[in-house]
Amino acid sequence: MIEKIIKLRKQFDDDISLKKDTDEIEKLKNEYLGRKGYIAKMLKEISLLPKEERPKIGQLLNKTKKEIQKIVSEEENISLTKKNKTEDIFDITIPGKTFKIGSLHPIELILRKTQEIFLGMGFNFVDGPEIELDYYNFEGLNIPKDHPARDDQDSFYITTEILLRTQTSPMQVRTMENQPPPIRMISTGKCYRRDAIDSTHSPMFYQIEGLAVDKGIRFSDLKGVITEFCQQIFGKDRKVRFRPGYFPFVEPGAEVDVSCGLCEGKGCRSCGYTGWLEIMGAGMVHPNVLEMAGYDSKKLTGFAFGMGAERIAMLKYGINDIRLFFENDIRFLKQFK
Ligand code: PHE
Repeated sequence: MIEKIIKLRKQFDDDISLKKDTDEIEKLKNEYLGRKGYIAKMLKEISLLPKEERPKIGQLLNKTKKEIQKIVSEEENISLTKKNKTEDIFDITIPGKTFKIGSLHPIELILRKTQEIFLGMGFNFVDGPEIELDYYNFEGLNIPKDHPARDDQDSFYITTEILLRTQTSPMQVRTMENQPPPIRMISTGKCYRRDAIDSTHSPMFYQIEGLAVDKGIRFSDLKGVITEFCQQIFGKDRKVRFRPGYFPFVEPGAEVDVSCGLCEGKGCRSCGYTGWLEIMGAGMVHPNVLEMAGYDSKKLTGFAFGMGAERIAMLKYGINDIRLFFENDIRFLKQFK
């Protein structure tokens, strides 16, 4: 029996020296140490031996079993680390993946910059619906149903009383209805008109609206605020000009021009040889508008202005076609990083 055990031990050494991968080692472990393995069989055989011989042989077999267990587990570890290493190998010289970082859309840049400028002057931002009531879009702005000013803003009607807003000016009325004076608000967002698409028209576009109402607000306040805005957007050297203009909800009303940045006001092709570029409509809030919103037009005055964000972006960045904003060609968009 002793010889048999020594032989088994030798045989194991031979076997293990040949088997190197994890599966082979696993198989060998079963053959020797499993429930029906060599060691288990021999342990059974011991019970058949005479009593006196059992302890000695038992001890030897146990010792052998422990040795085999130890070697098996060492070999298991070695083959496992080898396996992991080959799987982990990667080529550190391959260039890494570069992530493309997008940029804000030029319209969004203008909206954010505008909000920042007006927040800096004490205005707050209000947001409003693109689907609007006829009352807020027209009626409350002193544009009754039969008023010819509606023709310029031919719109998409959903019902006779609901339409896609043609301007952000309804936010003037909504803001006044919502809060007592004083008001200093700006609002930005999409507007819609039934215009055919060309290089300066789009049926969907963005507007920026502003309103200030308080005791003693004057036209000079409007001029100061607009000049500050234009100089922050276009540059300190730009001049601002107010021409008489008609909008039913302001009186007096004005069209605002900024001096051309290319020719510095001398006149060139880009400003139509006038030296000026039209950028917005503005004026003092019409007393009818204040009254309809529930404000006392004898005690309060205000100014309002409104402009197209695309137009501001086109002038600021030298873009000559409004369609570029909506085509989303990456080659165009990535220039505004
Ligand atoms: N809402 C006018 C437009 O779309 C612009 C404007 C706003 C004019 C506020 C005066 C005051 O043309």
